[in-house]
This record gives sequence, C-alpha cells and structure tokens, in this order.
Amino acid sequence: MKTKPKFCSGILAKAAHLQPLAQQLATKLDLPLLESEAHFEQGAIYLIYQTDGLHIVATTNRQPLRFHIDFTDGLYLRRQQTGGKEQGLAKAVGIKQNYLPRVLDATAGFARDSFTLASLGCQVTLLERSPVLAAMLEDAIERASYDHQIASIIARMQLHTMDAHAYLIDVTTNKYPAPDAIYLDPMFPERKKKAQVKKEMQILHQLLGSDDQTPYPLELALAVAKQRVVVKRPKQAEDLNNQQPSYRIVGKASRYDIYLTGENKTA
Ligand SMILES: C[S@@+](CC[C@H](N)C(=O)[O-])C[C@H]1O[C@@H](n2cnc3c(N)ncnc32)[C@H](O)[C@@H]1O
Repeated sequence: MKTKPKFCSGILAKAAHLQPLAQQLATKLDLPLLESEAHFEQGAIYLIYQTDGLHIVATTNRQPLRFHIDFTDGLYLRRQQTGGKEQGLAKAVGIKQNYLPRVLDATAGFARDSFTLASLGCQVTLLERSPVLAAMLEDAIERASYDHQIASIIARMQLHTMDAHAYLIDVTTNKYPAPDAIYLDPMFPERKKKAQVKKEMQILHQLLGSDDQTPYPLELALAVAKQRVVVKRPKQAEDLNNQQPSYRIVGKASRYDIYLTGENKTA
C-alpha cells in the first residue's frame, strides 16, 4: 500500500510540456493532478513543475511561500564559496587537509548541508524520508548534474528516499557500507516569530509539522558510524536524547555536538 505524503495536497504543471512529468509524480506520490492554482486551498502545500524545476508552495493567509532547490542559486553557491575547511560544519564532520570523510546526511531536507559537504569534496549519502522533499531533491540533483560548473559536486551526492532508521539497520547487515561520519540536523522547534524564520524553514514546518517530532536514531547512528556522529542543535537547546557529546563546536545561533565513535572514541 502506498503511503500518502502528509500535508501535500496536489501537483500542478506550469507548462504543457511538463504535464507528463507532473502526471508521473502525481501517480508515484498518489496525489491529485491539479489544473490551475485557482484550486489551491489556504494552509496547504502544493508541488508545481516549472521550467526551472519542482517548486514547493505553502499557501498561507498572506502571500504564498515558494521555494525550489537550485544548486546553482546563490543560497547554495554562497555555501560552496564560504565552505572553506575552517567552517564549523567541515570541522564537525572531521574534514582535514588531507582527509575527506564519507558522510551520511541522515536528515537531508533541502540539502544545503549536503551540498556544502560535497562542495568540500566529501562523498555524501543523503537520506530523506519525506517523499515530497525527496522528489524535489531528485529533480534538483538531476538538473544540476547537467551543469558543467557543479556536475562534479553533484556526482558526490547520492540520494535515498528512505527513513534513517531503516537505512542504519541495513548498514548493520552490510547492505550499505558504514559511513565515517553521520550528520543529523533535527528540525528546530518553531519558537521564533514567523518573520524571523527563513522562508524555507517555514515551509518545512508547514510540510512536516509534528511528523518530524519522532525520535532521531542517535543510538543506531552511534553504533554504526566509523568515526563520529554530528548533531546540529540550536545554541541553547538541550542535548539530543539528553546524551552528552564528546565536544561541541559553538556558532552564533547553533552548535554542532560531536560524538566520537569507533576507534576515535578511545583515541
Ligand atoms: C531541519 S531539516 C534538515 C535541513 C538540512 N540539513 C538542510 O541543509 O537543508 C530535517 C529533515 O530531516 C528529515 N528527517 C527527519 N527524520 C528523518 C528520518 N528518520 N529519516 C530520514 N529523514 C528524516 C525531515 O523530513 C526534514 O526534511
């Protein structure tokens, strides 16, 4: 039985030549194919195929919020340019001058962190359990793979549409190789005023809602990662699962909690 993606109410194609793609995705995700935005209801999420990619639209009682993943866009490229080895994320996953860990990004989302890590040269496996987000990632990865400026970065990113628990269990049975580092970026609780929260995060909250409050697989990750597990947290938040990390890298608004594993733990 297909599981209907939560909170997504339909798919639309903005041009006739995109109709087959939209139809294909509607069938895959078991969602209605809509004829126009006139059918959009308030407080809902829609996917729209446009010539530049698959957009997500969250309707609100104000302007609808729109986002689409474009790895050639400033939002992503800035991260590529500022993603030097000194950046907190690079340090957190253990990148060194002559060493690039294989990273499992177990909570891919809009893949900003995965793209940064792949830009730095890491092989990154992306896991995303929301079929709506995974469809957007798949579309963006496919498009970017034809862009000669970033094709080599994109080639280091491999997406699996699946839950991290299931993937990590498959690692324990050797179906997938054990990664050097596992990265977890749980959704931050919606505390800030809407205006202060970035548009992408507002959309994520509307799409995933309480669906994202299920426990994160920290224990399993600790058992599987060869070198470390990295958890991104709001600066003042409690430790994930109340488990104290080996050390922390603290930034302006957030921090990375690093749990050393395997041989690293006793080194
Ligand atoms: C805060 S977002 C991650 C943002 C991401 N780091 C980025 O750079 O765009 C968290 C994402 O993890 C996904 N997620 C949560 N639990 C998951 C699980 N058990 N397996 C796979 N994905 C999961 C959610 O669907 C959501 O897209």
